[in-house]
Amino acid sequence: MTQQEVFSPDRTHLYRFKVDRILGRGGSGTVYRGLDPETGQVYAVKLFHANFFRNRMHHREIAKTVARFAKFSHLNVVRVYEFISGEEGDCIVQEYVDGPDMKWYVANRPWNLGERLVIVAQICNGLQYIHDQGTIHHDLKPSNILFTRKGVAKIADYCLCRGGFLVFWEGGVHEQITPMFVAPELIQKEKATHKSDLYALGVTMYVLFTGRVPFEVDTLQKVYFCHLRVIPDHPSKVNPACPHALGDIIMKLMDKNPENRFESCDQLRIGLADIGRSRI
Ligand SMILES: Nc1ncnc2c1ncn2[C@@H]1O[C@H](COP(=O)(O)OP(=O)(O)OP(=O)(O)O)[C@@H](O)[C@H]1O
Ligand SMILES: [Mg+2]
Repeated sequence: MTQQEVFSPDRTHLYRFKVDRILGRGGSGTVYRGLDPETGQVYAVKLFHANFFRNRMHHREIAKTVARFAKFSHLNVVRVYEFISGEEGDCIVQEYVDGPDMKWYVANRPWNLGERLVIVAQICNGLQYIHDQGTIHHDLKPSNILFTRKGVAKIADYCLCRGGFLVFWEGGVHEQITPMFVAPELIQKEKATHKSDLYALGVTMYVLFTGRVPFEVDTLQKVYFCHLRVIPDHPSKVNPACPHALGDIIMKLMDKNPENRFESCDQLRIGLADIGRSRI
């Protein structure tokens, strides 16, 4: 895998880190590659947009979640080390992952069913771990799945909003949640649970196994309408190389009713193992 586009950074330093490049920009902020000169260790430092935090409570929640997660570690979860808040802005110091993200992967890598199933199995392990810590990811999507150059998949950005309800404004979900991956129950203002993460995982898998999003519509309102009412095309119809049974699993994850989705990521992994076996 080759590295993604390299952007020249607009700064040389961020707090104690020497910055040498921008790893990417998203809705929540800019991610820099930063070197800690004292230790020689490289990190991904996400600097949040000034308007990212909804209020002081949201800011405190994220600081608390980062502090809690700094104690945990899992191979398939991007480590977070520290939340820094000060004159230069608010940052999360994270493990630097040296390969591309899943968005790049889907657009550039040739089809390989086995490789993609291995990726999903790794995501299941990481997401189960996050759920086991009592946390809901809230924003699972291809750009939050990162790869090392050796092909280890890692889940990023799980500490950006914890528990609770999504914040709605003018009929829409707060912009830090990506509409294409939002579970229908969240649109109906129900509380986020691990089942809403399973829906987002279903949409992510839909993209991974078909190469396109389940609902190809152009407005926010239509996206929400589709999540609530429209059954997407079966993945094996969109991509004939996607086994029917795998398509069924993706459809189950994307079920409008949270109760009909898998119980947990572990259950999903067991279901996927059967597909792996039946293809060998
Ligand atoms: N820990 C990391 N190591 C290496 N690259 C990273 C890391 N975190 C993010 N990136 C890169 O930066 C890009 C932008 O990430 P960012 O989280 O800011 O945006 P996003 O995921 O597209 O959207 P959102 O802001 O909604 O999370 C990612 O797609 C990835 O390529
Ligand atoms: Mg992200």
